[in-house]
Amino acid sequence: ARVDKGGYKHFMAKEIAEQPSVISACLSAYLTESGVALPDPGIDFTTIDRLTISACGTAYLAGLTAKYWFEQVAGLPVDVDIASEFRYREPPIPPKTAALFISQSGETADTLAALRYCRDKASVVWSVVNVPESSIARESDLALPIHAGIEIGVASTKAFTCQLTVLLLLALKAAEDRGRLTPERRDDILTALRALPGTFNAALGRDEVIAQAARRLSEARDILFLGRGLMYPLAHEGALKLKEISYIHAEAYASGELKHGPIALIDKNVPVVVLAPKDSLFEKTVSNMQEVMARGGQVLLVTDSAGAAIAGNDVWKVIQMPEVPEILTPILYALPAQLLAYHTAIAKGTDVDQPRNLAKSVTVE
Ligand code: G6P
Repeated sequence: ARVDKGGYKHFMAKEIAEQPSVISACLSAYLTESGVALPDPGIDFTTIDRLTISACGTAYLAGLTAKYWFEQVAGLPVDVDIASEFRYREPPIPPKTAALFISQSGETADTLAALRYCRDKASVVWSVVNVPESSIARESDLALPIHAGIEIGVASTKAFTCQLTVLLLLALKAAEDRGRLTPERRDDILTALRALPGTFNAALGRDEVIAQAARRLSEARDILFLGRGLMYPLAHEGALKLKEISYIHAEAYASGELKHGPIALIDKNVPVVVLAPKDSLFEKTVSNMQEVMARGGQVLLVTDSAGAAIAGNDVWKVIQMPEVPEILTPILYALPAQLLAYHTAIAKGTDVDQPRNLAKSVTVE
């Protein structure tokens, strides 16, 4: 099927805006009245002791987020690797290890090679893909399609949030199988998940505020992204998106690592984007922000209303997101990360859908 821009200026803008509907499609594929439902032969998380995840680019960052979910919610140890490192490192695969590969295209050469390395070593090989006919899907014991629809923009957006949605559902399934989830907690999370497309829609309303902030970001030479816990992988995704399409140098750091290096870079010319909903780690992040501001750094804080109330007026700008339970914040906060990159690139006049030197799918090494 031919896909057009449907009235949007760029495929990336269209794909960002499609997220409420594709997340909803993804949820309907895996979530029934009674809870998480996976296709046959299904997955039983009591039969494995650990999970090893490999992927590239944005899919790798979905995997890094999943590590936090699987470990915190399901108590399942997870290793996450960049596929090009994993495939050559000769990592031992202990018994009762499941191997999971994440890929939008299902054709990334390094991810496919990592999968083939695990074929005869792992107990089972799973994949999370957007293209069900792809090589990675075909060579897996079980492929879970993300139902994002065709993605054209080179910088992945809707595939990322759909990957996250499937991975969170898997982590919930793991928690259930392993007896780690009380029925109340499970119901709270499922209710918020079912409401997520609507929440995402509301968050799309922040587009104009984000575009204003992006005009200032577009003047910077270097930008730092900070996040803690579930926001740490997302800080990487924000920096990656921004580099890819605006060509501004951006780096992500775990907030707690600020004083071990990047604080040396801070001055009034380096904007610092802090992704920090008012979660269990928020107070710690506030003190990191204060360290930045004490050195003249301009903080752009992406948070919720509770976070905005605490952070006060010292920050340069606040982008306020709707409230969601902490566990869902990576999916929702992907949106401002994407929109910041998109509008910064627009302000700079770069080619958003076809950034220089990048390919949508990297099928050679
Ligand atoms: C390229 C694309 C990225 C993508 C990565 C992995 O670098 O530009 O957007 O995240 O490949 O691709 P995959 O198809 O395996 O998810």
